[in-house]
Amino acid sequence: MSKSIRMALIVLFGINIVLMQSSFAQDVVSLRGHMEIDENSKAPLHKKWQQDRDPITRDYVQQPPLIPHNTTGYKINLKFNKCLTCHSWANYKEAGATKISQTHFEDRDKHVLANVSARRYFCTQCHVPQADTQPLVENEFEPLQAISGR
Ligand code: HEC
Ligand code: HEC
Repeated sequence: MSKSIRMALIVLFGINIVLMQSSFAQDVVSLRGHMEIDENSKAPLHKKWQQDRDPITRDYVQQPPLIPHNTTGYKINLKFNKCLTCHSWANYKEAGATKISQTHFEDRDKHVLANVSARRYFCTQCHVPQADTQPLVENEFEPLQAISGR
């Protein structure tokens, strides 16, 4: 193969990849609507968090329970964790809150620690407050009868 043919093939291959990528990009449509990659994304509408209510039934056994109260302004950082001021073993009785379960004291090798494990420190990584909104996609998930009682 001569040098110029080889060069031409490499250039064609490159063009092909660029074309393929742009057609893939057009097929991918986000639920937030289509945005070009170099546009600033629109700020999502701010939803109103639900106010305090009774605990929300879990849909499956391993589910992190949903947060049944407003969490606006609840800070979690290196020095302070607002959630633990009510949910820690030291404070839950006085706050009338559920205490964090024992799984929250285990490190990833299942060693039991004296305090909340670092992997369970950022509560809102798993537990989320609720807003009244339309679901983004249809979902027909049914909880186990043992949980729903139906
Ligand atoms: C001012 C006290 C307070 C603070 C702060 C607080 N909670 Fe709560 N939380 C409660 C109370 C009270 C309940 C309801 C307990 C009940 O009715 O059984 C509750 C319920 C919950 C539940 C439901 C438990 C279950 O079994 O269904 C979760 C999850 C939860 N809170 C997570 C959090 C997280 C995460 C934070 C921090 C972002 C937080 N809470 C901050 C008081 C608090
Ligand atoms: C990595 C995910 C994860 C993180 C982070 C996490 N949790 Fe949980 N949490 C769970 C799961 C899963 C359950 C249900 C099963 C269990 O008890 O482990 C749960 C259960 C709970 C319960 C109910 C306990 C019970 O006995 O019914 C409370 C209250 C709670 N978490 C609060 C918190 C608080 C407060 C934090 C932050 C300090 C936190 N969680 C961090 C996953 C998480």
